Amino acid sequence: MADPGTMLAVVSLTFQVFSGCVKGYQLLTDAKHMPSDCQYLRVRLKTEQHRLLDWADIVRLAEQDDQLLISSSSKWLLMDVLDQQNKLLHQFGRLDEKYKKLSKPLLVDDGEDFDGPPPAYEANSPTVQRVDSDFQRRFPQSEALLKKSLAWAKKSAQYPRRLKWATFDKAKIEGLALKLGGFNDFLRDMLNSTQLESLAIKQTRTEFQIMQLNNNIGNLVQLFQSALLTTKHERRRGSFSTNPVKAFLQAQGLEDIEEENQVAKPLKGLAALAQFKALHSAIENPEEFTDDFTCLIKLEHTASEIRSVELSRKDIKLLDQEVEDGSDLQRVEAIYHPPHSRKTSVWIEWKTFDPPNTQTSNPDPKILERVKALAALLKENNRTEHFRAPHCLGYFRDYDMETEEDHCRFGLVFEKPASAHSTTRPLSLHSLLTWQNLDMPSLTSRIKLMSILSETLERLHAVNWLHKGLRSSNILFFSDSGPEDVHYDAPYISGFDYSRPATNEDMTEKPPENASSDVYRHPNVQGSRNRDGVHGGFKKSYDIYSLGIILLEIAYWKPIEDILAIKDLPNSRPSVTLKVRQRLLDDKEGYMKFLRGNLGERVVGVVGACLEGPRAFGVEEGSDERREEVGVVLQRMFFERVVGELGGMRV
Ligand SMILES: *[C@@H]1O[C@H](CO)[C@@H](O)[C@H](O)[C@H]1NC(C)=O
Ligand SMILES: *[C@@H]1O[C@H](CO)[C@@H](O)[C@H](O)[C@H]1NC(C)=O
Ligand SMILES: *[C@@H]1O[C@H](CO)[C@@H](O)[C@H](O)[C@H]1NC(C)=O
Repeated sequence: MADPGTMLAVVSLTFQVFSGCVKGYQLLTDAKHMPSDCQYLRVRLKTEQHRLLDWADIVRLAEQDDQLLISSSSKWLLMDVLDQQNKLLHQFGRLDEKYKKLSKPLLVDDGEDFDGPPPAYEANSPTVQRVDSDFQRRFPQSEALLKKSLAWAKKSAQYPRRLKWATFDKAKIEGLALKLGGFNDFLRDMLNSTQLESLAIKQTRTEFQIMQLNNNIGNLVQLFQSALLTTKHERRRGSFSTNPVKAFLQAQGLEDIEEENQVAKPLKGLAALAQFKALHSAIENPEEFTDDFTCLIKLEHTASEIRSVELSRKDIKLLDQEVEDGSDLQRVEAIYHPPHSRKTSVWIEWKTFDPPNTQTSNPDPKILERVKALAALLKENNRTEHFRAPHCLGYFRDYDMETEEDHCRFGLVFEKPASAHSTTRPLSLHSLLTWQNLDMPSLTSRIKLMSILSETLERLHAVNWLHKGLRSSNILFFSDSGPEDVHYDAPYISGFDYSRPATNEDMTEKPPENASSDVYRHPNVQGSRNRDGVHGGFKKSYDIYSLGIILLEIAYWKPIEDILAIKDLPNSRPSVTLKVRQRLLDDKEGYMKFLRGNLGERVVGVVGACLEGPRAFGVEEGSDERREEVGVVLQRMFFERVVGELGGMRV
């Protein structure tokens, strides 16, 4: 144990041992020369370190124990678990039970002479070097507790500066990672239900941060594999349950394996996010999106199955004329009836396109690729992460073979949720806002809806999926008994847009100019000229701006054109929609005053931040939000200023 010198005397023993653990993880994950095919193990050790940090944050572990939220009767147990974890971390691969150096160590001090044969992989491989130097940057570094405990460990001078792998034993390191995970599970099980809830929220945000810092597909695959290690382990866990009642049930052969699997949720979350983000990053690139790849991230379908989303126009029977519901997006009911299969009641969302030139009515091949990719994502999304997007069955080109009528548009075909009756039509939030004689939903329901919508956007942005068309006509509900019985806590988000390629002026896909949708768009992306953003494409903060408008509509329970008293919005001039942001943020106009008086300061803060944009989230105006260091700040602050605020409201 550390020498309780004068400088360290004020630091509690709990904090010293905890810091030892954090340092131990740091040494192992920093150790040089780990072979590149075992990086997932390093990732796993790192995620265990973050689990420990998140846990410590919840129980307010700090230099002094006076804030510690662990009952005093459990403190000895806590010390014991931390101490065992600490020993394991510092002994592993170097020392035996009696703290003597192993004759054949796995790890040695970096710089220490080692007279064994050099490891086979120690060649001056560029991958090994690069991986070594970039590794820590793939995980959040901003946490105060991480910095504090590493700073303490540095002062205590009992730890080696750096380690390197002398030989490598994959099975032993897997075993280590699983044991450490077991200790962290044990610590988690010491929490009460309120603390467990806070821990789940905290871990989800850590996972989102990790997602922001890992953009390349190789890294995402490592994250996925590292998280999967738990699942395997959880299945086998029966043999050493730490809970006496569980252990008893297991001994009787009564313990349910399913239940054990649910325990692994936080890491399943990371696995699911990494899987989806890898799919999202690879799907538009046929060279990367291969069967080997889908197999690697354990998707249930082959690459060609996932990409085959084209449906035949003749299997689709449109049921009604196009209904306009206050926006440029038309949604129609239809029946999908492929040969030799059952009929499915579906709805169609249209995506119109401009043919690239006058000689053809076919779409630009790039557009076709992107529509396919979007349909495939919306189809797969059902099987992996949810994102509250409805399940897509595929798309078709709206071209009638018999009459040769061509509408120059694609139809995305969506299946209704299992909970809804097949004849139930989707109800858009926009239509509910203007429904005759419909009572305004309770403040409780409205805050809940705001909270769910912002959390969904947070999750979409965590995997870098931009929606690009958020507006109240794209928020859908399914209610078998009509608008009076809508469940506001079960919205679906639809109307996803695809990236419009902009190669040169005449190839650029121009969406139809429409003030009804521009009113939801940030001024930088209004009009047809620069729909995808002037500089560097569409940005997350533009989605966040649109969310701000929707939140405002929910607060007022009125569509934005009524809030702003814009008459005949569809035929309004661009100057009208361009002024919207400025008007809303202007104190003299009184929109924020209305929110303050009717919904309170928190909602003012939330809506204000969304409308204000990057600066409200600690990001410079005009920053490239695709850069990792910007993305990570935006992601964290969006939780702090929006999702966390709404989630914490009790009304
Ligand atoms: C859980 O523990 C915290 C901190 O000790 C305490 O404030 C809270 O009331 C406890 N909650 C429950 C449900 O016991
Ligand atoms: C804009 O949207 C409105 C409402 O859906 C629709 O009536 C109108 O035709 C659209 N305008 C254009 C130019 O597409
Ligand atoms: C997708 O979602 C639909 C409706 O929610 C459900 O009926 C269907 O079974 C799901 N498909 C898969 C493969 O999970």
